[in-house]
Amino acid sequence: MSLVDRALVRMLPAVPRPVVKRFSDRYIAGATLEDACRVVDDLNARGRMATIDVLGEEITTLEEAQAFEDEYVRVFDTIRDRGLDANVSVKPTGLGLKLDRRACKQHLAAIVGCAGRHSSFVRIDMEDASTTSDTLAVYRELRAEGLDRVGVVLQARLRRTLDDVADLAPLRPSVRLCKGIYLEPPDIAFTEFDEIRLAFVRALEALLEAGAYVAVATHDDWLVERALELIEARGLGPEAYEFQMLLGVRESMGDDLVRAGHRLRIYVPYGRRWYEYSMRRLQENPKIATYIALDTVGRLIPSGAKQVPA
Ligand code: FDA
Repeated sequence: MSLVDRALVRMLPAVPRPVVKRFSDRYIAGATLEDACRVVDDLNARGRMATIDVLGEEITTLEEAQAFEDEYVRVFDTIRDRGLDANVSVKPTGLGLKLDRRACKQHLAAIVGCAGRHSSFVRIDMEDASTTSDTLAVYRELRAEGLDRVGVVLQARLRRTLDDVADLAPLRPSVRLCKGIYLEPPDIAFTEFDEIRLAFVRALEALLEAGAYVAVATHDDWLVERALELIEARGLGPEAYEFQMLLGVRESMGDDLVRAGHRLRIYVPYGRRWYEYSMRRLQENPKIATYIALDTVGRLIPSGAKQVPA
C-alpha cells in the first residue's frame, strides 16, 4: 500500500457513513437474509460454496446475543429449505464473548447443535488478539462436549499461532488460516508483509502435518501458489482442503481456482450492522485512495461523469 493510501486509511473513520457504504457495498450481500440467499444462489451456480455471516460484533447486552442465535437458526433453516451449498461463520463477540464467556459458549453450542441437525457446519471467526485465548478455549469446550461440526480461525500474523496449532493438533481441527486483519503490536505479532507471508506458510505446513482440514483464506497469489505446492506435495484430493475468499474481492482469481478443480468458499456477510466490517475491508483495499479521491472530485463537480474503478 502506498504512503498516500496509508494516510487515507488513517482518515477513514472521518469519512461520512454514506460514502463508506457506497464503496463497501461490493463486500456485503445486503441487509436481509433474502439478499444473502440471492448472492449464495448465484455463487453456487458458479461452482462456489458459501459461508454466511450475520453482521454484528461487540454487543452490549446478552439479549442481543440471543437475537444473533435466533437469526443463525433461521439461516440454517433457510439454507436447508432453499437447498443452498453454504455453512455459517460466527463472531464470538457478537454472542457475548466479552460480556459473559459461559453465555457465549452456550449460544455457540446451540448454533453448533443446530448445524449438527442440518448436517452443516459453524466456523468461529477470530477477532482481535484480546479474544484469541477465550475463543480457542470455547472451541475446545465445544469439542470436549462432542460437538464437532465446528471449526476455528488462526491468524498467521500472531506469533502464538504455531503453538496454537500444536495445542489443537490432537483434535484434528478444521481451521481457516488467514493473515489476520487486526493490526497487533510487534511483541505479539509479525508486522512486516513478508514475515506474515512466511508465517502463513509455516502455519499451513504445520496444520497439514497435523492432519487438520484447512481452509486457505487469502487473495494473495503468492500464498495461493505456495498452498497449491504444499497440497500437491502431499497428494491431497480436492475434498481434503478448501480455499476461501471474501465476497467482492479478486473474483477472477476465484474463477481460476474453480476452473482448476479446487473447492472455493466465499464469505457472504449480510445485515444492518455493516459499518465495522466495511471499514476493515476498505482499509485493506489497495485502491482506497482512488475511491476516496474520485468521490471527493465527484462531490466538488456534482454533474461530472465520474467513474469508480472495479
Ligand atoms: P493481502 O491483504 O496481501 O491481499 C492480497 C491482494 O488481494 C491485494 O493485493 C488486493 O489485490 C486483494 N485484496 C485484499 N483485500 C482486498 C479488499 N478488501 N478489497 C479489494 N482487494 C483486496 N481475518 C481475521 O482476522 N479473522 C477472521 O476470522 C477472518 N476471516 C476471513 C475469512 C475469509 C474467507 C477471508 C478470505 C479472509 C478472512 N480474514 C479474517 C481476513 C484476512 O485475515 C485478511 O485480512 C484478508 O484476507 C486480506 O489478506 P490477504 O491474505 O488476502 O492478503
